[in-house]
Amino acid sequence: MAEDQQLTAAGNEMSASFLAAKKHSDATLAKLEENPGKFTMLTGDRPTGRLHLGHYFGSIKERVAMQNRGVNTNIIIADYQVITDRDTTEHIEDNVLNLVLDYMAAGIDPKKTMIFTHSAVPAENQLMLPFLSLVTEAELHRNPTVKSEMEASGHALTGLLLTYPVHQACDILFCKANVVPIGKDNLPHVEITRTIARRFNERFAKKNPVFPEPSAILSDAPEIPGLDGRKMSKSYGNSIMLGATAEETAKLIKKSPTDSERRITFDPVNRPQVSALLTTAGLVTGRDPQDIAEEIGDSGAGALKKLVTESVNEFLAPHRERRAELAKDMDYVRDVLHDGNKRANAIAEETLDEVRSAMGMKY
Ligand code: TRP
Repeated sequence: MAEDQQLTAAGNEMSASFLAAKKHSDATLAKLEENPGKFTMLTGDRPTGRLHLGHYFGSIKERVAMQNRGVNTNIIIADYQVITDRDTTEHIEDNVLNLVLDYMAAGIDPKKTMIFTHSAVPAENQLMLPFLSLVTEAELHRNPTVKSEMEASGHALTGLLLTYPVHQACDILFCKANVVPIGKDNLPHVEITRTIARRFNERFAKKNPVFPEPSAILSDAPEIPGLDGRKMSKSYGNSIMLGATAEETAKLIKKSPTDSERRITFDPVNRPQVSALLTTAGLVTGRDPQDIAEEIGDSGAGALKKLVTESVNEFLAPHRERRAELAKDMDYVRDVLHDGNKRANAIAEETLDEVRSAMGMKY
């Protein structure tokens, strides 16, 4: 088979499994809407930087909606995941506290949603030992996301990077979550979580299964491009941070690249940069980017940037105000985390106890 044919075949296979995952996700969401109280959600972020608009539309908004619908919601700040592919924990505390600030400013209510970190919940981490016995080295090496993260990091494959999808299974299963909102790069991790839950139950808990087989929930939001038309990513400097000031945002939009054609049209394939600006304006105003393009027409990139700046800053103003208010009392922000950690420990100890009982390790 020619190389490009092989690539196409692989691509098709991926999209077929993606479509199957999306179908399963939609069916689960329909059940969740009918009976939210029956669902436990767990999802999380690695504390490697600040949250941007892509995070907001791709995940934070959905978490807030689930919380407000009455789902039992949990957010893990995956601090051990930071050292899967980097050598330093510099700024980690600052990153963790800023995540908590953005969650709360976006509408996460710590009375309803448990917010906690890996490193503060020993019993959760201990699940790693029995879980690692349930997967083979070959299965771990097959994970496409681990492979691409290793390549992107330029580091050798560490033991923690190779096994972090199993750690993610601990995150999800310690609180017996049955729904896990994620981006498609995390689908293999939810798949291994399902495998681990199934194998644990089969091997050690046939009569009284301990773990549910959780479902991945895939967002409907279109992926929001960075201001230069590439993927929104901190390392490209093309992201609009939720916590940036209005002036910083204006500056960033002003220096974003466009093209030499004056007339503004929405054409993501041929004009990715102009179209990224239109997509951004569309998302924050709830309008169709095509309509915005027609409205601006011959007024050019300057007028487009002015509109994007104004609409983004208007959209983020209430978030930024709440964030600034919360940041005045960092002791409270720490208390939120301490309380979440305490609750997570109680749940993790209970689950670990069940695991020990199922395995006959109660002495
Ligand atoms: N792996 C996720 C990411 O990099 C973060 C994460 C850690 C997570 N544990 C999780 C997501 C459990 C969902 C469930 O984005």
